[in-house]
Amino acid sequence: MKLSSANINVMVKACRKAAKIIIRDFGEIENLQVSLKGPGDFVTNCDKKVEKILIEELQTARPNYSILSEEIGKINNDESFRWIIDPIDGTVNFLHGIPHFAISIGLEHNKEIICGIIYDPIKDEMFTAEKGNGSFLNNQRMRVSSRSKLKDCIVFTGGPRPDSKNRELDLKEYSNFSTKTLIPIRKLGSASLDMAYVAAGRCDGFWQRNLKYWDIAAGIILVKEAGGFVTDFNGENDYIENKTILVTNSKISDEMIDVLK
Ligand code: IPD
Ligand code: CA
Ligand code: CA
Repeated sequence: MKLSSANINVMVKACRKAAKIIIRDFGEIENLQVSLKGPGDFVTNCDKKVEKILIEELQTARPNYSILSEEIGKINNDESFRWIIDPIDGTVNFLHGIPHFAISIGLEHNKEIICGIIYDPIKDEMFTAEKGNGSFLNNQRMRVSSRSKLKDCIVFTGGPRPDSKNRELDLKEYSNFSTKTLIPIRKLGSASLDMAYVAAGRCDGFWQRNLKYWDIAAGIILVKEAGGFVTDFNGENDYIENKTILVTNSKISDEMIDVLK
């Protein structure tokens, strides 16, 4: 089975083209130009080159769509359709030569994410999803895991971000998980892949504060179409506004909410 709508094809083509630059630069990381956007917030010239290619490709195919992209910000056009782009999610891994990062593109229609793609160029893993048509990993249908007890699970998180205003809270939530559950917790450094892995059933749950919309846009539809839940830390829908995201295989949501409290 394969997901191949017109929009997905456009996104896949843009990702594959941009990924060639990432793979080339990953082989020569000692020559990367790195600059600081804020405390602990790095950007490389590769992030910018990748973003440029993605935008050129997406604009050629869909000239009227608006864009929100991490490094350049907003390009306003027809507001009903909008690409949400993170050119490299996991930049710190990338610049340290750790092969775990991804291109992430979501497509919004009337403020709702309807398509998503997360591409890990090193492992050549293409995660795609479209509203009503399921989630796929390299053209194989994906489902979230079926583990129903938190004690049997593995969970992911990230943060606290260097600019976090809730550092104590971040650490308290981590400590809650670590002490109340004793289950394995991983911080792999790419929120989009964290969500893709929940969709693929490799991880059972993920939580994080203060992520940006481009970190999570594509992951939202991947997880939902794979049968998972995306909520805030109270199990409500306001995760974008509240900047607290809880992603689960649907079965462990209540237990995770209890632990986070
Ligand atoms: C970062 C990654 C990381 C998360 C950070 C994000 P970037 O994105 O998603 O996993 O913990 O909060 O900023 O900066 O590499 O695109
Ligand atoms: Ca990111
Ligand atoms: Ca990024």
